[in-house]
Amino acid sequence: MQDLESLSARALADIEASTDLAALDAVRVAVLGKKGSLTALLKSLGSLEPEARRTAGQAINGARDAITSALEARRERLESEALAQSLATGAVDVTLPGRGEEQGGLHPVVRTQTRIEEIFRRAGFEIAEGPEVEDDFHNFEALNVPADHPARAMHDTFYFPDGRLLRTHTSPVQIRAMRGSPMPLRIIAPGRVYRCDSDVTHTPMFHQVEGLVVDEGISFANLKAVLRHFVEQFFEKPRDLRFRASYFPFTEPSAEVDIQCVFCDGSGCRVCKQTGWLEVLGCGMVHPNVFRACGVDPERWQGYAFGMGVERLAMLRYSVNDLRLFFENDLRFLQQFNRG
Ligand code: FA5
Ligand code: MG
Repeated sequence: MQDLESLSARALADIEASTDLAALDAVRVAVLGKKGSLTALLKSLGSLEPEARRTAGQAINGARDAITSALEARRERLESEALAQSLATGAVDVTLPGRGEEQGGLHPVVRTQTRIEEIFRRAGFEIAEGPEVEDDFHNFEALNVPADHPARAMHDTFYFPDGRLLRTHTSPVQIRAMRGSPMPLRIIAPGRVYRCDSDVTHTPMFHQVEGLVVDEGISFANLKAVLRHFVEQFFEKPRDLRFRASYFPFTEPSAEVDIQCVFCDGSGCRVCKQTGWLEVLGCGMVHPNVFRACGVDPERWQGYAFGMGVERLAMLRYSVNDLRLFFENDLRFLQQFNRG
């Protein structure tokens, strides 16, 4: 009985002295646990006479109830203290100004591409699409660029091990459109293209918008008229443009079209490589071999095609002097295009 009294007095004192939940649990285990001091007393009851066992049993159970409720009361105290403390340290100052929300916007290249699409849509063009992973047939062969053709060297092509490739231009969509639907045809095909190339006016991935018109009696004059109309609409005023005789295997005759450099007004700078002009597109009359590869009769149908660089046009419209800025994803650069 004396053991029991001193044991429960010490247990109650230890409970009161516990300053955190871990210490309190250690006291519980030491007294009430499987090898606890009170548990040991209970086990010793077996050796007593029946009468003494009953009195001692009642006393031990009473002590256990007192200790259990003291543990419970202390646990509640400690928990509410811990909660009060974490509320005090993690307090939110509701009077501080909010962080605000950033507003997203369209990338300047996407804006430019949408603008180009709208201008041609209003002129009666439909939008066509093709895959970025192309095969040799659509990217080269059907465009009158056979395997040994020197023009392949002009395209720094990314190849896959199986011989497929990342399209180097949007012109393969011409082939897919002509093989996939009846003439006449009036389409534009916007999308990503890839070349192993990088400097102020070249990036390894860029965007082109392809145009293709096939009908009876189409001539180079129609092509020039459409492009002049486009440039006037795109820049919101007539702009100097220059048709330079050029060569593409899939058009004959072919031309490259330059726009007067907006950075130096034509006097020559780093962006235009001192020429005063910036090349924005290639174009020409669809080559008869291309028609034949698509099963279109070149005696009956004529057509023109063009392929323009979207980033080049975005540079000119927004006066951006380095093409690579479009793809560095610097928010300070991109946020300038979100207004209005
Ligand atoms: C072509 O890609 C031809 N498929 C265009 C064409 C279509 C000609 C239909 C005739 C008929 P070229 O490689 O010149 O041509 O590219 C066309 C335009 O894409 C260029 O005028 C330029 O604006 C843009 N461009 C070319 N290479 C890059 C590059 N690495 N980075 C950004 N823009 C580029
Ligand atoms: Mg070129």
